[in-house]
Amino acid sequence: MLKKSLKVAAIAMTLVFVFGIGFKALSQGPRSIPGVNADDKFPKGCVSCHTVVDGKDHKVSTIVKAIADAVTPELLAKAQASSPEGLTLKGKHPKVPTTEVPKKCMMCHSKTSKTAPAFSRLMHTIHLTGATNMFMSTFQGECGHCHKYDKATGDWNLCNGTE
Ligand code: HEC
Ligand code: HEC
Ligand code: HEC
Repeated sequence: MLKKSLKVAAIAMTLVFVFGIGFKALSQGPRSIPGVNADDKFPKGCVSCHTVVDGKDHKVSTIVKAIADAVTPELLAKAQASSPEGLTLKGKHPKVPTTEVPKKCMMCHSKTSKTAPAFSRLMHTIHLTGATNMFMSTFQGECGHCHKYDKATGDWNLCNGTE
């Protein structure tokens, strides 16, 4: 009888230590996650971030115009890596409108496309890979700058906007 209650007490003490003290020591408090528990500075996603900054034009319309002439080797390498099997990119983009980005982009960049990389893979490789990626260094690789969290329903939606 005594032995059994000692055993129970030992288990209880272990649980208190692991979950009580152990977790408390590890806890650093919540990190700030834009759109979840911190301000969302880019409510329209792509077009909120791709603007003119310090006189430098980062607009999606400007990028799309530039790649209709020529694609830089860095961008082409990332786009090629995210392309479906069997597709070799030409390095020249068709002329396209930039109303409703990325909704309109995804018409061609669908998951089943044989001629263009799927937009999820293309956007993820462009923004989340590379040792000197500015989206990682300047914007902390935040998923929530493109994917928007709906606190009321728990849904994550890809955000859409016009320049
Ligand atoms: C919070 C800021 C931010 C958001 C939101 C964002 N981007 Fe970007 N984007 C960047 C940065 C920074 C780069 C440069 C990455 C690098 O250093 O290679 C970039 C690069 C790009 C490039 C490649 C440009 C080039 O010439 O190499 C394209 C295309 C692009 N973004 C399109 C989009 C689209 C479409 C969306 C929405 C689905 C989007 N971006 C959302 C910041 C953003
Ligand atoms: C009419 C169809 C179409 C639409 C709409 C479209 N794309 Fe593309 N995209 C393509 C094709 C085809 C390629 C592959 C081009 C190649 O072979 O280099 C491509 C490739 C790309 C690449 C890789 C670089 C390149 O040109 O190879 C980027 C970046 C890109 N698209 C961004 C966008 C963005 C941003 C939008 C929306 C504003 C968009 N695309 C809308 C068809 C489209
Ligand atoms: C630059 C914009 C951008 C950023 C940043 C971004 N995503 Fe995405 N993500 C997209 C786009 C575009 C799609 C395609 C949505 C569609 O097809 O409906 C997508 C789709 C997805 C999907 C659905 C699966 C798929 O392949 O379609 C998952 C899962 C996902 N993203 C996870 C993440 C995570 C995790 C992060 C952060 C580490 C992240 N994304 C950051 C643009 C982004």
